[in-house]
Amino acid sequence: MRLLTAAVTTMALTLGATSAMAAPIEIKFSHVVAENTPKGQMANKFAELVEERLAGKVEVNVFPSSQLFGDNKVLEAMLLGDVQMAAPSLSKFQKYTPTLQLFDLPFLFKDMAAVERFQGSADGQKMLTSLESKGLVGLGYLHNGMKQLSASDVLRVPADANGKKFRIMTSDVLQAQFEAVDAVPLKKPFSEVFTLLQTKAIDGQENTWSNIYSKKFFEVQPFITESNHGVLDYMIVTSAEFWGGLDADLRSEVKAALDEAIAYGNNIAAEKANSDKQAIIDSKRSEVVEISAEERALWVAAMKPVWAKFSDDIGADLIKAAEASNQ
Ligand code: LMR
Repeated sequence: MRLLTAAVTTMALTLGATSAMAAPIEIKFSHVVAENTPKGQMANKFAELVEERLAGKVEVNVFPSSQLFGDNKVLEAMLLGDVQMAAPSLSKFQKYTPTLQLFDLPFLFKDMAAVERFQGSADGQKMLTSLESKGLVGLGYLHNGMKQLSASDVLRVPADANGKKFRIMTSDVLQAQFEAVDAVPLKKPFSEVFTLLQTKAIDGQENTWSNIYSKKFFEVQPFITESNHGVLDYMIVTSAEFWGGLDADLRSEVKAALDEAIAYGNNIAAEKANSDKQAIIDSKRSEVVEISAEERALWVAAMKPVWAKFSDDIGADLIKAAEASNQ
């Protein structure tokens, strides 16, 4: 009997030790940009905060620069459980929901403060749940900034874009936006943009100061028109299966760390919109083209009709609500 008790005790101790040593839950966070960007910094901060607060329980491993998945694959991979978090730009969810196309409408938001107001509103927050039926959970928005137009020639008025090839993200709204100025849009992954520009397979692209700087597009694009014609922001997403499978307390600790990291990333986004633009100017590799109010009005007149094409898919009321955030 004594022997049996000893054996049971040993077994219990071994089992106890095994469960105490259970591997932490891994969150693979995949993104496509460089580390010195708002998203790169946010993801690293999130990993750091989780390490500080939940060491041994949860571990965040960040994979930048499309090392693990490009944006066109990452959501499928998430549904298969191969990656737990990502933050694709809002332009990349078209396959999953039509509402997020709102953010691609050209000249909808006048600045990032308007974007912030809209995302924080009840309508903006509701959009975080727009992926639920597809098994995905929106955990929050993250800013990058307003988009600019870079090209091999000066773009001052819409006619300057006629016939030129522009790389776009996988979004039909962005396609319509470039078709509206008689340009040729090509949907290509972010990881291919530098080479496409360098080899002159395309003439231009649209992106934020941060992306143009960190991926060195400015070194192969002699002109960047400061158009501020659209926004490039992100949604941090996870799968409902992974998120729902976390213990409630752990989930709220992970969410708190993420919210803090998002606030940190948003501050970096605001700062980089100025500092990366200045770094490009200082490099003298690319000329920043400022357009007059009259020239800008021509771009607005050419591109804004795109709204009507997508109004039914997105919802006219939602577009109105987003417009109202400019006041
Ligand atoms: C792009 O493809 O241009 C962007 O979505 C990249 C990013 O994640 O900022």
